[in-house]
Amino acid sequence: MKEKSINIPIRICSFAELPEKYQQLVESAKQQTQHAYAPYSNFRVGAAVLLNNGVVVGGSNQENAAYPSGLCAERVTVFAANAQYPEIPVRALAIAAFTNGAFLQKPIPPCGACRQVLLEVENRFGQDFEIILYGENEIMLIKRASDLLPIQFSQNNLNNC
Ligand code: THU
Repeated sequence: MKEKSINIPIRICSFAELPEKYQQLVESAKQQTQHAYAPYSNFRVGAAVLLNNGVVVGGSNQENAAYPSGLCAERVTVFAANAQYPEIPVRALAIAAFTNGAFLQKPIPPCGACRQVLLEVENRFGQDFEIILYGENEIMLIKRASDLLPIQFSQNNLNNC
């Protein structure tokens, strides 16, 4: 039996250490939390993507009385961006979450289903994008969506390669 390890580089920084364009993207994601429709969880997630053309598209979680019909902020955001700008690759994504009157202290990680969708966005455009997970105490930077899903299912598997 062989054993393999997967090493994923993660950078941790403060808001002040972020480049200005990422600070702006985080501010957009934070603003988006206030547009969430989250009457069931009261967990308000906001996201914002920066596209290659400089446009920022935001989104938030949209819940439903039939719980599984709701959608996470990350998917609302990338689907909206890809629907409006189908030819423009995503350059970066920021995520923030607000609950009980405050932003989360720790970085908010995307759920598994969102990771799968983010991976598809990278594959679709053939361009990695950086992911900025906002927390009040620290911010986590992940170089590419693919790093969030190291053992992944993609079109390659469909094509048996
Ligand atoms: N949620 C997101 O929008 N993004 C995440 O990464 C995790 C969870 C939403 C789904 C649901 O509306 C609420 O947060 C509680 O799970």
